[in-house]
Amino acid sequence: GLPASVEALIGRMTIEEKCGQLNLMPAAWGGGVATALNPPSNGPSFDGQLADVVAGRITGVFNGNGAEMARRMQTAVMRQSRLKIPLIFAADVIHGHRTIFPVPVGEAASFEPDLARRTARVAAYEAAGAGIDWTFFPMVDIARDQRWGRTMEGAGEDPRLGELFAVARVKGFQGNDLTANDAVMACVKHFAAYGAGEAGLDYNSVDLSERTLREVYLPPYRAGFGAGAGSGMASFNEIAGIPSHGNPWLLQKILRDEWGYKGFIVGDYTGDEEMIAAGFAKDSRDATRIAFLAGVDMSMASNNYWLHLPGLVRDGTVPQEALDRSVRRVLAAKHMLGLFDDPFRRIDAKREKARTRAKPSLALARDAARRSIVMLKNDGDVLPLSKAAKVALIGPFAEGQHDLNGPWVVYGDNAQAVDLAAGVRAAGVASVTVTAGSGVEQALPGGIAAAVAAAQAADVVVLAIGESEGMSGEAQSRTEIVVPAPQQELAEAVAKTGKPVVVVLKNGRGLALAGAVRAAPAILVTWFLGSESGHAIADVLFGAYSPSGRLPCSFPYESGQEPYHYAHKPTGRPAAALSDPYKAKYRTTLNEALYPFGHGLTYGKIAYSDLRLPATMAWDGTLEVSATVANTGTRGAEEVVQLYIHDHVASITRPVREMKAFRKVALAPGARETVTFKLTRADLEFIGLEMTPTVEPGQFDLWIAPSAQAEGVKGTFELRAA
Ligand code: IFM
Repeated sequence: GLPASVEALIGRMTIEEKCGQLNLMPAAWGGGVATALNPPSNGPSFDGQLADVVAGRITGVFNGNGAEMARRMQTAVMRQSRLKIPLIFAADVIHGHRTIFPVPVGEAASFEPDLARRTARVAAYEAAGAGIDWTFFPMVDIARDQRWGRTMEGAGEDPRLGELFAVARVKGFQGNDLTANDAVMACVKHFAAYGAGEAGLDYNSVDLSERTLREVYLPPYRAGFGAGAGSGMASFNEIAGIPSHGNPWLLQKILRDEWGYKGFIVGDYTGDEEMIAAGFAKDSRDATRIAFLAGVDMSMASNNYWLHLPGLVRDGTVPQEALDRSVRRVLAAKHMLGLFDDPFRRIDAKREKARTRAKPSLALARDAARRSIVMLKNDGDVLPLSKAAKVALIGPFAEGQHDLNGPWVVYGDNAQAVDLAAGVRAAGVASVTVTAGSGVEQALPGGIAAAVAAAQAADVVVLAIGESEGMSGEAQSRTEIVVPAPQQELAEAVAKTGKPVVVVLKNGRGLALAGAVRAAPAILVTWFLGSESGHAIADVLFGAYSPSGRLPCSFPYESGQEPYHYAHKPTGRPAAALSDPYKAKYRTTLNEALYPFGHGLTYGKIAYSDLRLPATMAWDGTLEVSATVANTGTRGAEEVVQLYIHDHVASITRPVREMKAFRKVALAPGARETVTFKLTRADLEFIGLEMTPTVEPGQFDLWIAPSAQAEGVKGTFELRAA
């Protein structure tokens, strides 16, 4: 409950003051540092916004300019406003604040939720140092359509992985004590199913069965809220004709009645107002009514709750109690953040400076980055490279202070990040030449000739190609998930030299690799790795670190297969081979991935054996299953051992495979380890005919395997009836 002093405030507030507490606005620039989102010319003047906060028209601001700006605003509120209710400062701290970590989907490739907890902790430490109380993160939207640009901001396609990363990220930001000056309130977003937009188009409509929604999309949100997230954000999309900002079934019935969530919900940027264009609200007043009554407690950026909510309360359209309930939720969050005790607890310019890009933070950024790299292929053990080799670094991402941090970075600076050339040089490689060869989406005059010459003079080519920062992220859906044409041409020309080529991909999503890129003997997926990009890639290229990342999202064979995800249904006509007629396949492509979810190689040689799987599982029992993994190679490795199941027959058809557990184990050369998992009946649940979790007795396949398509070791067991 709220302390009496805060509760008493509610009794003293006017309707306008209450509505002001539910109105969040982007920060006007002023003081502090200019950011990418807030150059000096953006939006209202700082003085205008100071007048707003003093008058109680807004509850806080987001994506502002650091501790100095926050100090000036909070001081004005504390000195001049009637009720002295502290402002809340929010920001999109997505994959780091000043120290930038890998994009979230890349970090999910580590298959180490605790790594995500630790990077979120550092992001909170830096951000809270700069006056930020609240981050709009984690994004826990399941992404199964590679075309969607925001794939890069989540944890990929799998609900179990999504749940674990959601929990880790909430805990990392919030820490153990939300009042601490290094704790930042999390926001689980975007509720719900924002990643399921038709055709991978951002903001597009979603039309999902309730079963798929509950079984696939909702679990990560539920896990994030269950981990104690103080807030959540409504999604821009509609589901089956109802925009999330106007959906009481989602925001009330599921979120509050079923899950017991007690925090507040903020709308997304003008998401309430957008119900007009969507054809769900007549005008701004109507949009305000719909959003507020559906359960959006706080409006973002539209100013609607300031402009229209007071009138709706006065004429009785919105009950006073509903208004008070939302205000109470918002004040409770401010209280939990310790703002009523000390409105300046996160505002300290000296601390901001001291916490920025501290050495241990950068060390963690390097470790997180190398743990996020996925080695798709290493034919003939091309990797690791010798430092004595003559290396030609070729491609638009070989060198330069661009595209290192990745999309959705408000405060980090690419100029401070380590590029690939710098990383390779710092690794002590004797001979490195650098040639761009191509632009990202446009050819460079003479580029290919120069690249071919450089390749010819070298022992090995490291080809740094892929997507720029601008090609993924919000509103950056692609129709083709391929390497852009000029870079593909570059790859073809370089491959013709006959020199071994190591492809270092930059990407925010699963890609369809073709031609010389697909055929290269070695391929590393490096996403956008952040501040320490170049060092981390060099660590893997030259063997200081044995790659251990796994794909959290599938790489289909071809652009056109998406939405492709491994946990698809078998269909009545599963295809075993391309030659099978009248089966579920494309004319020239099986319904499989070139590189499936969970795939990734190490510098070790890993063998799976000795599945120990009991034949039966009792209804109320536990299934203890184990397998042995051995490293028969000559280099150390960390292997991500994955457990998948398939339910043979059920009243609802079941996916071909579902991951239920995984463990990352370190294996020295020659080492072997028995990895044990315990499953309970809950792991076998699906959403049944009644739309509730259901389990049916019967036979299940079980794999312990290195990816969603690998056989690993396989057996069957029977769940016995009660
Ligand atoms: O947090 C974001 C959200 O993910 C997309 N729209 C804008 C918000 C605030 O910047």
